[in-house]
Amino acid sequence: MRIPSGVSGFDHLIQGGFLPGRLYVLSGPPGSGKTTFTAQFVAEGLRNGENCLYITMHESREELVEDMSSFDFGFETLAGSEQFRYVNLASQQGKRLLNQFSQSGNPSSVQSLTDKIVAFVNSREIDRLVIDSTMLLELFFADGDEEMTRFLTALKGCEATTLLISEMTDPSAYSDEHYLAHGVIFFHNYLEATGMTRGIQVVKMRGTDIDCDIRSLQFEDEGIVVDPTERVDF
Ligand SMILES: Nc1ncnc2c1ncn2[C@@H]1O[C@H](COP(=O)(O)OP(=O)(O)OP(=O)(O)O)[C@@H](O)[C@H]1O
Ligand SMILES: [Mg+2]
Repeated sequence: MRIPSGVSGFDHLIQGGFLPGRLYVLSGPPGSGKTTFTAQFVAEGLRNGENCLYITMHESREELVEDMSSFDFGFETLAGSEQFRYVNLASQQGKRLLNQFSQSGNPSSVQSLTDKIVAFVNSREIDRLVIDSTMLLELFFADGDEEMTRFLTALKGCEATTLLISEMTDPSAYSDEHYLAHGVIFFHNYLEATGMTRGIQVVKMRGTDIDCDIRSLQFEDEGIVVDPTERVDF
């Protein structure tokens, strides 16, 4: 069984959809479409009656809904569903919500955060999980690499199909999450005299036949649309 992404054209690049329960990392420059892609992924799940959890520290629920309401994939209505859980880790409410699942120990420790997220996902039977983004994890991770590895390993083990946004500070340098994830998707945008050229590239997808070429990505009224037949050079 494959999980549809909710992004028109994209599933053609990955044999019909994501493999369930796996961890996918989305990387790319500012404004390249990462957050919009994850909102469409959640909207698709909600349309299918799935439980979805969105964890962020970048914006309030209202801001996300407002930004996505300029598209017509119905996010503002779907986000009102009981099956949608939104956690803004930067807010007091977000911290309290996560604390309900705290086992013990230092609330700022990575083990605690990891346990809370995994407990939340498992107890609420979350089907689709989005984390926007790894930058937020730095707030919780005192010692970078080792704690990130533990966190990613826990995410790989949880039952939700997970999209993790990871900004790349150095576009030529892969990070641990790219190696650990089951799949990696790169977003591209490039400003030319004629305007912005946008693309999306499946860099890796374990268990799936992919070709790694960059395809055209456009923002349309319905949200992000990928043209699987149109290759883009950067
Ligand atoms: N109809 C539209 N509605 C909203 N945004 C649009 C639309 N068309 C194009 N865009 C552009 O899409 C971009 C938003 O993309 P998105 O927030 O998904 O990017 P991102 O990769 O998450 O960026 P960041 O790394 O800054 O969070 C904005 O720069 C916006 O100008
Ligand atoms: Mg974003």
